[in-house]
Amino acid sequence: MTESVCEKCGGTGWKIQEREGLSGAERCECVFVGRTRRMEESSRVPPLYRNASLDNFVLPKDNPTAGRGLAQVMTTVSSFARNFPDEKRPGLLLIGEPGCGKTHLAVAALRLLIARGFEGLFFDYQNLLDRIRAGYDAAAGASDREAYRFALDTEILLLDDLGAHRVNDWVEDTVTSIITHRCNNRKPLIATTNLPDPEVGDQLASRGTAIAGKVEYRISLAERIGERARSRLFEMCKVIRMPGVEDYRLRKVR
Ligand SMILES: Nc1ncnc2c1ncn2[C@@H]1O[C@H](COP(=O)(O)OP(=O)(O)O)[C@@H](O)[C@H]1O
Ligand SMILES: [Mg+2]
Ligand SMILES: [Zn+2]
Repeated sequence: MTESVCEKCGGTGWKIQEREGLSGAERCECVFVGRTRRMEESSRVPPLYRNASLDNFVLPKDNPTAGRGLAQVMTTVSSFARNFPDEKRPGLLLIGEPGCGKTHLAVAALRLLIARGFEGLFFDYQNLLDRIRAGYDAAAGASDREAYRFALDTEILLLDDLGAHRVNDWVEDTVTSIITHRCNNRKPLIATTNLPDPEVGDQLASRGTAIAGKVEYRISLAERIGERARSRLFEMCKVIRMPGVEDYRLRKVR
């Protein structure tokens, strides 16, 4: 692919600007556009979400209650990105059922921040843990060994589908240390999860409809990632509970 040379600056990155009879050099917009594009490319956002934005987030027309709820969520995400980094809560946590648009909105927020010049990295939770585990193997590639460092050090970490994994001590310790390290160093985290949490109004026990009187329990976020990591996460993040809405993948095919 050939890159066209910017017409405004002839590719130098500087424009001559006349102001009140004086001429001076000024940074050309193409410098920022190129930088944003390079940072987007290195953010590891999966192809399915590469163009996810608030502009292409669609509100359901047939469900006004869900529509209003989602519109409110969009406003919150937008102001999160605009006012980033918030002194008290620099992070964002999106909680809700599968298919309600959590990853889409998390990526939209990350892309807005990248456009503002911040550096961000997307990690699927399961994939991050697999790579960290692989990193302990002698035969592992350097990239696997670096995954943990990246998760600790990147300016903004997007951790997608937090808790989508069985619990064991090793997982709990790893997640706790990533979240605690980021919290202690005021390094923002954007996270999404399907797991319920009572603090945002989720019920963990529900009476099953099939067998009358039988109580079903859902695994909570705290049970999956550990109480410590969960409470640090709530401390550092603006927490959004997504409204109940039909899975977008099903909505689209109807
Ligand atoms: N309101 C919406 N408008 C446009 N696309 C959406 C919307 N909600 C979800 N999607 C798309 O549907 C797919 C599933 O959404 P996703 O964000 O992955 O859901 P979740 O992370 O909550 O499971 C993605 O391709 C996403 O871009
Ligand atoms: Mg998701
Ligand atoms: Zn230019």
